[in-house]
Amino acid sequence: MFERVYLDNAATTRLDPAVLEEMLPFLTDDYGNASSIHSFGQTARAALDKARHRVAALINARPAEIVFTSGGTESNNLAIRGSVESNRRKPSENEDYRPHLIVSAIEHPAVKMVCDDLSGISCDVTVIPVDESGVVDHRTVTDAIRENTVLVSIMAVNNEIGTIQPIADIGRAVRSRRDAGQRIWLHTDAVQAVGKMPVNVEELGCDLLSLSGHKIHGPKGIGALYVRRGVRLHPQNIGGRQERGNRGGTEPVAQIVGLGSAAEKASNSLIETSERLRKLRDDFEDRVLESIPEAYLNGDRHRRVPNISNISFRGIEGEGLLINLDMQGFAVSTGAACSSGSIEPSPVIIALSRDDERARGAIRFSFSRFTTKDEIERLLTALPRSVETLRSLSAGLAHK
Ligand SMILES: Cc1ncc(COP(=O)(O)O)c(C=O)c1O
Repeated sequence: MFERVYLDNAATTRLDPAVLEEMLPFLTDDYGNASSIHSFGQTARAALDKARHRVAALINARPAEIVFTSGGTESNNLAIRGSVESNRRKPSENEDYRPHLIVSAIEHPAVKMVCDDLSGISCDVTVIPVDESGVVDHRTVTDAIRENTVLVSIMAVNNEIGTIQPIADIGRAVRSRRDAGQRIWLHTDAVQAVGKMPVNVEELGCDLLSLSGHKIHGPKGIGALYVRRGVRLHPQNIGGRQERGNRGGTEPVAQIVGLGSAAEKASNSLIETSERLRKLRDDFEDRVLESIPEAYLNGDRHRRVPNISNISFRGIEGEGLLINLDMQGFAVSTGAACSSGSIEPSPVIIALSRDDERARGAIRFSFSRFTTKDEIERLLTALPRSVETLRSLSAGLAHK
């Protein structure tokens, strides 16, 4: 039996055994409710406080600016819906007022679908295109800001191609509108950025930032939203005063401890891991592009997190290659995990290449701090053979 190789770390990562170790007491003996006054409650409260400090440290925030949620999807929902409900003003009589949102064309469904939903009911939404490397032009974003814009939501790093967006430039534009008296905030979905590159909320100038535990070797079902001091969101989960009234519900202490632990570990290993992965990834790409004809890199070669590589192989379907590689023990992806299972080509690759065939032949390889050189070498042996087999199969079918 072959040893399986997991290269789908942008979908989810393996729980770090040391993170699990820190979580275990809170799943067994230390089961108190953090709102209780007795010692069980105090133990849970202290664990939450420690985790809040650790998560805040990872993004240079203050602990009081961290709101724990169930993950990136909930953080995005809270940021977007909470901003719209908080920043919309009362229309004057006979005024046709609708709050306005700005997003990019390559947002994760956890942003895109929320905006689609809101645009159906009560908001206007402007979608900013990306260039051929998957980056928005910050001037296009700035030019799209209107008087009724309440939120700009642009992802920090794309989940399929790994390109980094100019959030700090957008942050400056949003801040200057706010300084001029407009109620407007900047949100960034940083689920694929945090733990992969330095993320500093002060430097980015964002008001809201989403992150998720299971993308950084923490547990699933836990994430956080950074809410800059002074920003008041309308809560979406109502029914308790937890998380300073931003999110009602008894806190999942073990999950939060896991997120805190994962955040600290990501922070401690950030520089070393990103340097190692960048070398591994670049070497992998050079050799793939050299050895496989008609293979194309998607995304910006330089302006990218080091753990994602997205390559299109002309003449084959990404799904076919994914299944072929899976049979040999390699787990890869055709793009966003939530769209796998459907054979729709990736809207992200279409947005940047406007090429349906290129989008259909795209595969995302995503690495983590547990990925080894040996695993990449094995993939480099298997991949050219798989591509050749599938291409000759489809050529054979075309001649029938
Ligand atoms: C960019 C981005 N945003 C949001 C999410 C959703 O995060 P979660 O799975 O924690 O809900 C993901 C997960 O794939 C993502 O990649």
